[in-house]
Amino acid sequence: MPDPTDLRAVLDAAYDLAPSLAKAEATRDIHARMARVVPFADWARFAPYVIEINRLKAERNAVVLAHNYMTPEIFHGIADHVGDSLQLAIRATEVAAEVIVQCGVHFMAETSKVLNPGKTVLMPDMGAGCSLASSITAADVATMRARYPGAPVVSYVNTTAEVKAASDICCTSSNAVKIVEAMESDTVIMTPDQYLARNTAAQTNKRIVWWEGACIVHEQYTAGELRDYRRLDPGVAIIAHPECPPEVVAEADYTGSTGGIIDWVTTHRPAKALLVTECSMASNIADALPDVEFAKPCNLCPYMKMITLEKVLYSLHTMTGAVEVAPDLAEGARRAVQRMIDVSRG
Ligand code: 13P
Ligand code: SF4
Repeated sequence: MPDPTDLRAVLDAAYDLAPSLAKAEATRDIHARMARVVPFADWARFAPYVIEINRLKAERNAVVLAHNYMTPEIFHGIADHVGDSLQLAIRATEVAAEVIVQCGVHFMAETSKVLNPGKTVLMPDMGAGCSLASSITAADVATMRARYPGAPVVSYVNTTAEVKAASDICCTSSNAVKIVEAMESDTVIMTPDQYLARNTAAQTNKRIVWWEGACIVHEQYTAGELRDYRRLDPGVAIIAHPECPPEVVAEADYTGSTGGIIDWVTTHRPAKALLVTECSMASNIADALPDVEFAKPCNLCPYMKMITLEKVLYSLHTMTGAVEVAPDLAEGARRAVQRMIDVSRG
């Protein structure tokens, strides 16, 4: 990723990206998907980028895969496919385009690359990491194996390709229980999210041992603050992500992956919902669910928020930010991810 001034100079030389009410008007249909959360005046700033990115996608034979935590202008404006980690991994196996632009964090782009070694996978900002992925190495996985001989290692997809390759199988928040139960051993090692592991342990008879990693977004929530919300508003539906601590999950009416959360709110239509997860989740579904009021607070993921329209345009314009995974690691990671996909479909 170049210096921000250089990036700006490259884009300004190639495109007219000045805020434009005319361009905002011309893309009103796109804005309609986020009108409740993105004022039209702001859309006039985003529309010039959205128009150029969508034009470039066609020119480069590219698709944009966007995680549910992307901002609304990315999620609704330029994404071809949106979803949770499992949905995006499965989608990555089905993409026909030659180029994938990953709007999410680095481990997601690595997953797309290992599933598509022949395609170009662009990461608009290589610095978009994850506190879980950076908490563990392949050497740490070996240490866990030595501590619990014979126990299989189930690694959350929020890991590097190196850690995936050192694992027996991957899981996501939407299939963790199913994956753990598919293991033959009575003891299962789960890495790197201690909270996903503890929440999974509560739903299975397997003995789960875990690595002590945590998501910096979800570990911040406390059971006390959720109880306060419920006391102030007894009718609120509290919906939590399983990366939250177990005592937080215990206060929730539903716990699931970001995709599961969207399905739950869409089906149950609570008058008021508190999504105990990243802020963009509520923003991205607000317009499709006008009858649901979304309570704050929420927490921002600083890594997810590093992905912007400006960086996506730069990446597609210059075709820079291609993710590479060493072939031996890619093969090991592919085996672990593909095994997860097969088990979750089975
Ligand atoms: P899911 O979308 O799979 O629920 O994962 C959430 C997350 O934190 C991704 O980084
Ligand atoms: Fe990682 Fe948490 Fe951000 Fe997801 S929300 S990318 S788990 S830090």
